[in-house]
Amino acid sequence: MAILAAFTVPSTLRFLMPRRAGAGRTEFDAGSVQDYAATTVSTRWIRRHGVWVVRDHAGLFALQADCPHLGCTPRWEPQSSRFRCPCHGSLFSLEGIALRGPAREPLKRVSIRRQGERILIDPADYVSLEDAESRGGYHVMI
Ligand code: FES
Repeated sequence: MAILAAFTVPSTLRFLMPRRAGAGRTEFDAGSVQDYAATTVSTRWIRRHGVWVVRDHAGLFALQADCPHLGCTPRWEPQSSRFRCPCHGSLFSLEGIALRGPAREPLKRVSIRRQGERILIDPADYVSLEDAESRGGYHVMI
């Protein structure tokens, strides 16, 4: 019984209490626009701030690296241009839209703004994709 518990308890705890990236979440200087190559996802701020910075055809936006299912940190897979959650397999598009469950909601958009040539991101200020599109301010145009 003890041997069975030794093998099953860690994985059960990992399932129930998923790991999250970016413990300290306050606004930070994310560098300049030139630091982000066209049509790529930067994973540079995942460990420290829990966000990805995505550069698309129009500009930059930031995604919160918390899976909307139970909060694990998905991984960026450049070969398929998808975010994949290692906990239960949810799949998200480059824009953060849920393509496969169990997650049904998209990844959250994080506040991003430009101050001169600098990019400032506030991981504590995030909204749903729909709210980000209607409010503006969650996409820096280039
Ligand atoms: S936490 Fe369950 S799929 Fe991401």
